[in-house]
Amino acid sequence: MLNSAAASTIRLALKERFDEDFTIDPALDGLSGLAKIAGHRSHRRFAPQPVDAALLRLLCACALSAPSKSDLQQCDIVVVNDTAIRQGIVATIPDMPWITDAPAFLVFVGNGQRLPALSRLHEKPFPNDHLDQFFNAAVDGAIVMSAFMCAAAAVGLGFCPISAIRDQPQVVSELLHLPNRVFPIAGLCVGWPAQAGEITPRLSLQTTVVEDTYGTRDLAHEIDTYDRRRAALRPYRRQRNVEQWGTAQLYGWSEDKARQYAEPTRTGFGEFIRGKGFCLD
Ligand SMILES: Cc1cc2nc3c(=O)[nH]c(=O)nc-3n(C[C@H](O)[C@H](O)[C@H](O)COP(=O)(O)O)c2cc1C
Repeated sequence: MLNSAAASTIRLALKERFDEDFTIDPALDGLSGLAKIAGHRSHRRFAPQPVDAALLRLLCACALSAPSKSDLQQCDIVVVNDTAIRQGIVATIPDMPWITDAPAFLVFVGNGQRLPALSRLHEKPFPNDHLDQFFNAAVDGAIVMSAFMCAAAAVGLGFCPISAIRDQPQVVSELLHLPNRVFPIAGLCVGWPAQAGEITPRLSLQTTVVEDTYGTRDLAHEIDTYDRRRAALRPYRRQRNVEQWGTAQLYGWSEDKARQYAEPTRTGFGEFIRGKGFCLD
């Protein structure tokens, strides 16, 4: 992509995403890479052609080149090739056919097993069994997954992360034979996009980029402005749980999220993680 075309793509994407005008120096290096990041959209429809195994491995290598907390390297990637295993995972998530349809499916896992194993191997104490162990592995996993998505986008692949694999983490753990202290973070559907997809508007940068300190905020006003902008650009196709909450006149992002989180979800996840051997104190 020519730099001037990339600059224009970025400007348009960020205007749609944040309703903010950016001035972009066309002489900047790497604008075509930035254009892919700014134009991100999750893909849930894929062309039938497979993703070459060698390409997947290359993307895994790029992803695992990401920085890692204290060089601890606490993320692994499970490439799910076995159809029966994938179907077992899908069976725990009834309403996401894109997991079955995606040419490739990966699971990013946090690995808190290796570090205490190193201590045992070297006959050292391990007086660090607390929440930070779980948190570090989860953060490393998220960073690797993010790097994987950037790498996939760079070669034109589409993807959709799947946290729903944590709806029944025990089942997923058994299907993948995850050892003690290894836990699923998210799945990732990967394939060649079948359609362009759409940009999802995000909260304004006035809300999410903080200069120095948090001051007094008019959160209700900021959210209302975002709800209206988003509803004008990308209205929700259906309202959640109309039986309980009725039909809202303005069904914005905040109403949708409030309805979503009015239901208990993944309440057993802490128990699962403790059962995997982590101390969460
Ligand atoms: C950690 C994580 C978990 C997600 N889990 C799911 C999921 O289970 N199913 C799904 O269809 N999309 C999932 N998504 C995709 C989000 O729904 C999507 O990123 C969000 O709606 C914004 O849309 P965009 O990615 O197109 O900008 C997930 C995204 C992230 C980052």
